[in-house]
Amino acid sequence: MNDTQILELTPSVNWIGVLDPDLVTFDVVMATQYGTTYNSYFIDAEKKTVIDTCKEQFWPVYEAKLRKLCNPAEIQYIIINHTEPDHSGSLANLLKIAPDATVVGTGNAIRYLNDLLGFEFAHLIVKDGTQLGLGNKTLQFIGAPNLHWPDTMYTYLQEDRLLFTCDSFGCHYSHKGVFDDQVGGFDDAFKYYYDVILKPYSKFMLKAIEKIRHLDILMICPGHGPILRTYWKKYFDITEQYATAAMQLPNKNKVLIAYVSAYQNTGKLAELIAEGIRQADPALEPELFNLEGVSLEEVEQKLIEANAYIIGSPIINQNILLHIYQLFAMVNPIRDRNKLAGAFGSYGWSGDVMKIIEQNIQSLKLRFFGESVFIKFSPHEDGYRQCINYGRAFGLKMLEATGCEAE
Ligand SMILES: Cc1cc2nc3c(=O)[nH]c(=O)nc-3n(C[C@H](O)[C@H](O)[C@H](O)COP(=O)(O)O)c2cc1C
Ligand SMILES: [Fe+2]
Ligand SMILES: [Fe+2]
Repeated sequence: MNDTQILELTPSVNWIGVLDPDLVTFDVVMATQYGTTYNSYFIDAEKKTVIDTCKEQFWPVYEAKLRKLCNPAEIQYIIINHTEPDHSGSLANLLKIAPDATVVGTGNAIRYLNDLLGFEFAHLIVKDGTQLGLGNKTLQFIGAPNLHWPDTMYTYLQEDRLLFTCDSFGCHYSHKGVFDDQVGGFDDAFKYYYDVILKPYSKFMLKAIEKIRHLDILMICPGHGPILRTYWKKYFDITEQYATAAMQLPNKNKVLIAYVSAYQNTGKLAELIAEGIRQADPALEPELFNLEGVSLEEVEQKLIEANAYIIGSPIINQNILLHIYQLFAMVNPIRDRNKLAGAFGSYGWSGDVMKIIEQNIQSLKLRFFGESVFIKFSPHEDGYRQCINYGRAFGLKMLEATGCEAE
């Protein structure tokens, strides 16, 4: 499938990436309807340099491309902007044919490569602002951690004004044209990539954007998808918009009461808890949210907006229901850390398994309220009181956390 196409970006820099048009799923979770590319770049400076590599399975075609441009034994530096094996997977093979090369990356990148490769290799750890002379060219490294691993950085080739960003500003989109002005529309792939890979790290995206805003950029050269040679500013701005939207602060008064209920027992508990919360302070906004039939996107949006969660399930066959596990899958500990959270539910004869809700709350770094309400079958007078008291206490705790006081 892969030919040995290489593409010139500037007289000294070529794209030597590979196309993977048939990829169906990336990293288990992403449907890649347009396939993807693993972009790698060769800098023909006095000290010959490679930026990122490609997935191991594409090594033969990658090696052939590289040999069209140089004798690999002459390669002096291999820059690894990110160590995930879709980019570093061919590094071990490359080091065999480039024995004099020094691997350059962040401290985390070099640590991860030690574990990934399992053998010693010459390396250079760089930090934000470090410069590396290639004889007639200069690389500048830009600290851009947590996009989307702790090891990530960007590399800027000063003389050619090229910014190499690996996963940032990338997308899964395979097209032989490779350049953004040659491949047709790919905005949907760009958004999908941001949503799945980078959105949880939007705080870090905004920090990275501030670091590169002042750079004189000719092209942004990502690790996947089109090279942004003509429209880089458009994708830079879109990325900033996505990141800003994802950082929307929660409404400090909003409590999401998310539940499912087969016979409306858990549903009734939810209503009573909401009533207790309103009694704590009418300014608080409990929102009942039945998870049955709603999309995961809706669940995520509700999680983003709310400042606290109370999560309820009936026990069915000695387990809580799938919807609750799905909700937990959408909790983002980076974004939602420390939000106050509680548990409730209805069971018939053994409520022990309700603890799964509490355990997930704690594992996902939410702040467990400390108490839960689990009621046998239907709530009656006692149950009513218990739920209302629970809601009231939860509401008061929220006010404490936000520094407000009940009227
Ligand atoms: C199919 C089914 C399986 C159940 N399995 C359990 C169980 O394993 N343990 C238990 O304590 N209750 C079990 N129950 C009882 C429910 O937890 C109980 O009816 C509860 O009140 C349902 O709450 P809901 O009205 O919110 O759905 C089961 C109920 C159904 C319908
Ligand atoms: Fe990655
Ligand atoms: Fe990647």
